[in-house]
Amino acid sequence: MSITNSLTRRQALALSGATAVGIALGGLSRSAVAANGSPLPIPRLIEARAGQTVTLSMRKGRHGFGTGRLVPTAGISADYLGPVVRAQRGDTLRFQVENHLDEATTLHWHGLMIPSDVDGGPHNTIRPGASWTPEITVTQLPATTWFHPHPHGNTARQVYQGLAGMLIVADGGDPERGLPSTYGVDDLPLILQDKRFGSGGEIDYRPGMMDLMHGFQGDRLLVNGVPDPLADVPAGRVRVRLLNAANARNFNLGFADGRPFQVIAGDGGYLGEAAEVRSLVVAPGERYEIVVDFSDGRAAQLITGADPHLAGTDMPTGAETIPGGERLALMRFRAGSKPSATLPPLRLERLAAPNLAAAVAWRTFVLDPVMGGMGMNMMGRGADHGTMSINGRSFDMNRLDVTARLGSSEIWEVVAPEMMHPFHLHGASFRILANNGRRPALAQSGWKDVVLVDGRAELLVRFDKPAKPAQPFMYHCHILEHEDQGMMGQFAVV
Ligand code: C2O
Ligand code: CU
Ligand code: CU
Repeated sequence: MSITNSLTRRQALALSGATAVGIALGGLSRSAVAANGSPLPIPRLIEARAGQTVTLSMRKGRHGFGTGRLVPTAGISADYLGPVVRAQRGDTLRFQVENHLDEATTLHWHGLMIPSDVDGGPHNTIRPGASWTPEITVTQLPATTWFHPHPHGNTARQVYQGLAGMLIVADGGDPERGLPSTYGVDDLPLILQDKRFGSGGEIDYRPGMMDLMHGFQGDRLLVNGVPDPLADVPAGRVRVRLLNAANARNFNLGFADGRPFQVIAGDGGYLGEAAEVRSLVVAPGERYEIVVDFSDGRAAQLITGADPHLAGTDMPTGAETIPGGERLALMRFRAGSKPSATLPPLRLERLAAPNLAAAVAWRTFVLDPVMGGMGMNMMGRGADHGTMSINGRSFDMNRLDVTARLGSSEIWEVVAPEMMHPFHLHGASFRILANNGRRPALAQSGWKDVVLVDGRAELLVRFDKPAKPAQPFMYHCHILEHEDQGMMGQFAVV
């Protein structure tokens, strides 16, 4: 049928397109190393075990952001951010999520493939003082996922205050894969964010019209809640779990000395083979696991280029205030001196080619401000909701936009005509078939739940988890200001 024909034509185009997807680091080959840094904070690890209850307390806190001056924040069983929860594949987990905030919230498991009634989206409201006790069976392959609030219209502000944490799905098989897995030693969580601070060091979240249009970006970069930290790592192979938990900034990562690193996993788990790269764009909501070789004992600095999204706009990129111009410092690694044994080869997972024949529908989603005219509606409506849309319609919790068949696959064509949008789905994962007519680079070739769209992307989405029409899954832009303003839709899986 026409889906197949059309795709074949597009793929033919893709194959002639040659170069890899991704944004070159350009001048990012050297960067000034700051004089000192605080140690990289390693979030507390909670080993979630079947039959035990993990309590996550969403609460207010006070955090120093590296300055020592405590300012009001929020966190999940912590003053800022949350613990890292590690779950074993196959286990059924019990959570007690307590809302100690003074406003309603939810806690969404971003990247966990679970039924919608425990997904934690806008329909799973937790009132102030109440708790929510979902039972979650982890059936998916090992992956780095995360959790954050998702109350409609208030997600951006809550996440910005610090409500976010990482959840790792493991299966005990990493030694055979040649992968490090000693948490906090050679398996490090890096939660990447940016922030604006007021003159008293307080979090300054007051989005103006430009912030609502482009997404709210800060001029200070943070890793695990502090600027420019230092991690001591063993001389050898180190695994880094990258999570972009910023509201809107794309990170464009690389090392100051230009060293290559291996991408071993994307949002949905291991790639078929490691992808060697020197730079990697990580969009809001996206996760990658990388392996960096510190065998030579040399120190390294992780840097990011200016957000490609802001190139050509007059938005602050942070370049003015962070040393190194466009090469913005994120953190440094100091490698131990003990030479390590020879590294075993990496053995990741078999990854079948996307099965196009399985697709039963083709749908198109166009991400834009309402009416298509950038800013037109905002001029009149300010920070009101409903200025962003998908297919011309702003989010409505009482409207079901799409119904998919449980166990089926569909091709979703996502179009971003005016600016880049990181598109995300709950409860379903996809393979990228093409992004602007090109096949995905190896690093983006695995299962994913976020894709940065700057033009047109075609995804093969598999619907494996149920969602009743009364409690649907979400699809949305992961620029949180766009999501809150209505660039979100709902789908049932029945
Ligand atoms: Cu990170 Cu709708 O989610
Ligand atoms: Cu999600
Ligand atoms: Cu967007």
